[in-house]
Amino acid sequence: MGSQPEFRRYLVNVDSISTPQLFTDCLVIGSGIAGLRAAIEAAKVRKVTLVCKGTLQDSNTWKAQGGIASVLDADDTFESHVADTLATGCGICDQEIVELVVRQGPELVQQLLCWGAEFDLTDGRIAITLEGGHSHARVAHGHGDETGRVIAEALIRRVRQEPNIRILENLYCIDLLTSDDNKCVGMIGCNGRRGPQIIWAANTILAAGGAGQLYRETTNPEVATGDGMAMAYRAGAVLKDLELMQFHPTTLYIAGATRALITETLRGEGAVLLDGEGRRFMTDYHESGELAPRDVVSRAILARMRETESTHVYLDVRHIDKAYFTGRFPFISQLCESFDIDVAKDLIPVRPSAHYMIGGVKTDASGATSIENLYACGEVASTGLHGANRLGSNSLLEGLVFGKVAGQMVSRGKRASAVYMKPPLIKYRIPHSDRTGLDTEDVRNSLRALMWRNVGITREDRPLAETQEIIGFWQRYVMDKVFDSPEGWECQNMLTVCLLMARSARMRLESRGVHFRRDFPQTDDQNFKRHLEVKR
Ligand code: FUM
Repeated sequence: MGSQPEFRRYLVNVDSISTPQLFTDCLVIGSGIAGLRAAIEAAKVRKVTLVCKGTLQDSNTWKAQGGIASVLDADDTFESHVADTLATGCGICDQEIVELVVRQGPELVQQLLCWGAEFDLTDGRIAITLEGGHSHARVAHGHGDETGRVIAEALIRRVRQEPNIRILENLYCIDLLTSDDNKCVGMIGCNGRRGPQIIWAANTILAAGGAGQLYRETTNPEVATGDGMAMAYRAGAVLKDLELMQFHPTTLYIAGATRALITETLRGEGAVLLDGEGRRFMTDYHESGELAPRDVVSRAILARMRETESTHVYLDVRHIDKAYFTGRFPFISQLCESFDIDVAKDLIPVRPSAHYMIGGVKTDASGATSIENLYACGEVASTGLHGANRLGSNSLLEGLVFGKVAGQMVSRGKRASAVYMKPPLIKYRIPHSDRTGLDTEDVRNSLRALMWRNVGITREDRPLAETQEIIGFWQRYVMDKVFDSPEGWECQNMLTVCLLMARSARMRLESRGVHFRRDFPQTDDQNFKRHLEVKR
């Protein structure tokens, strides 16, 4: 596949003598549902340091709309939730993980309610709705379409009250630190005002979130640039399923405006998709119509956009009572209003965009990665729950369950005693590159457009190969440099993850779940009913 530039171990010059440092039993990187839940669990018996690149609120969790899936109704069963997850995952879910997550779900969701998460209630019980691929209503929601925010607020309140948790916001984690015998010993980061910072940790939980910002079109916040995956890769962890990016079918499309998710629960409550000619089309593509799996809906929308030469399709909610709609979907109502869309009269323009990274750092049932003392949970991790396609609202559940599991593992682990943590002397110097630099902002925008074009909803060998070549070219200029700001490190991380994604997508010579190859449209169980792993 052509020669590719080497990835170096650290992005910055690490000098563990002269850099300010602190010590902790448990380092948690990331402030989404998984990181917050992990910190709460570990803090029962350990000193925890929770770091995040922005504020505690900057996460995919905060922006989640539809909900959290769990068996919450007497008529629903674990077997049914497991079966739906396995069916959507197209043959490569890990059944042990699916059982674990589904069975722990109800108790942990109820616990969130007890901790003050403002879920919507019906007759005092958590209200539930339907999403695509679920054979039973089991999606819990809060403040209508602000489920992520109500969950995150409850967890953040608890994290702030916990004396064993130190919170460091706006601390950009540049790299995980590893010892010569492949143990994770903490991280090196940078706080804009205070500069470099080393945190030595007996155990590290990576919960650094997803990578939607690798694409021009995405529902994800600006922080989701794949940093966690890139630094785990540099540290030597095994990553898997990197070709599996899930695209959400319905993102508000207003040219020039930031993309915003229009939750699938809208379709769960009766919204229908119309093409540019006003024709309902999903029933032509799948018996479940608008509630078909997301990959099917996304590809159908693309096909209709092509056939009608349009940049988008529409969601029609005009038949839903406006008062009900406004109460059930307050965020979307306001969003539409801000663009002068009257949902009682107007159609909502939508198109698909990158939404959720199914692949990530490989973990086992305890959240452990291939590096000792390093755990991963949430979107950065690949636990095997989702297989090749994620069932809607299963990701908040996964973050909740594996956040707790990883926190429990760490609370049984070592403390950061001075003896144990005797800091290894790390001196790592990289010569500055002579090459004239590229404009990283420009590289970043071009990269996102390239990924959207070539590693998007449908793929093919030639564009994937071209992607590898172009990224390889940019890497020669960008990867050799030693940057001193998050913009540069983020650009390096984005190039790294995009290259691995393009490589993996090129290697999977079949179509399965979210990965659709125009040149290999069939599923090939004989050769590809398995995961693709990468390691530095
Ligand atoms: O459509 C949604 O609200 C998205 C849910 C999810 O990605 O799980």
